[in-house]
Amino acid sequence: MIDELDRLSGSDLYPFHMPGHKRQRTGTWLDEAYIHDITEIDDFDDLQEPEGVIAETEKKLADYYGADRAFISVNGSTCGNLSTISALVPHGGSFMMDRNSHKSVYNASCLGEYRISFLERETIRENKLTACISLDMVKLKLSQAKKDNDLPKAVLVTSPTYEGFIADTDGIADAVHAYGIPLILDSAHGAHLPVSKKADIAVISLHKTLPAMTQVSAVLVNGSLVKPDEVKRYINIFQTTSPSYVLMASAENCLNIMNDKGQKLKKTLEERLDGVYSLNESLRSLHITGPEHIGRYGIYDFDRSKINIIDRTGKMDGRKIYDIFRNEYHLQPERHTERTCLMMSGVMDTEEGFTRLRQAITDIDKKL
Ligand SMILES: Cc1ncc(COP(=O)(O)O)c(C=O)c1O
Repeated sequence: MIDELDRLSGSDLYPFHMPGHKRQRTGTWLDEAYIHDITEIDDFDDLQEPEGVIAETEKKLADYYGADRAFISVNGSTCGNLSTISALVPHGGSFMMDRNSHKSVYNASCLGEYRISFLERETIRENKLTACISLDMVKLKLSQAKKDNDLPKAVLVTSPTYEGFIADTDGIADAVHAYGIPLILDSAHGAHLPVSKKADIAVISLHKTLPAMTQVSAVLVNGSLVKPDEVKRYINIFQTTSPSYVLMASAENCLNIMNDKGQKLKKTLEERLDGVYSLNESLRSLHITGPEHIGRYGIYDFDRSKINIIDRTGKMDGRKIYDIFRNEYHLQPERHTERTCLMMSGVMDTEEGFTRLRQAITDIDKKL
């Protein structure tokens, strides 16, 4: 798709079609996007019924994640969640969902007027972060639902969490499948990690943690409990009929990068993360929290690229740590919670960025 768009921009094919900017330069940095931005003209396929260049990118997506089918969403995982839940749970149906869900899951439930049962997760005492949905919680809630003769049409679990806690997704998938029910994983924060192939559906935001542009997400479908065409029907309902080729091309670009040099990039990231987490040995007040909770609170694994910083002395709350990183060190955190500040890292980070982060952490700790 990237090459085809580039060929088109250099060709003499005049655009008597949308978009209104007519692929003209505007004299700003946006111009590379403008001259490559088209609508669904001949040879450029149709996101609603892809058979050409878009189908090729979706096939590349499925291959990368080892999924049976993959669908692009240019409306983020928000559209992925709305579509997959609506496809699986009929209007007024029973739906079992993670209480710590993104608003798109709640919105799908409102639109569908579902009867909801909540899966609850614990809060980690030391850092007040929400942990994971445990396998036991899923088993308990499903056996209760069975007793009440009200098994849900689908179960949705968020994993990884924003802060990087990963649930036992394979175990949960087995437990849900034991009742013949499909599992939806909201893995919006896990596009850079291996995605459970046992989950019937995984919704991933490529844009959050991989080199794809904002809004670019995907829905991965596996197994025989879910009909991919039904999922696609709902994606077409919720998604724009004017998808941006710049965004779709960025999905392909992201996959090309990860296919060509993903292993090397991931190795470099791991080495850099070793450097960050090893700071814990010398830090006296600050602490980089996360991995120590594996094995408790339903936490099966941890994504170290989510660098959660806490002041163990309690002098600084999450907001204060956030402000110091931003105002004094010009490092923009992703967000803060009550006690922690989240610095999100990824395969596209630079050595300079990591060096500045390590220095800032050490320096703030010294001052404390
Ligand atoms: C857990 C979770 N699911 C879904 C979404 C929605 O993702 P997107 O921003 O790609 O629409 C978010 C966004 O932050 C999220 O945190």
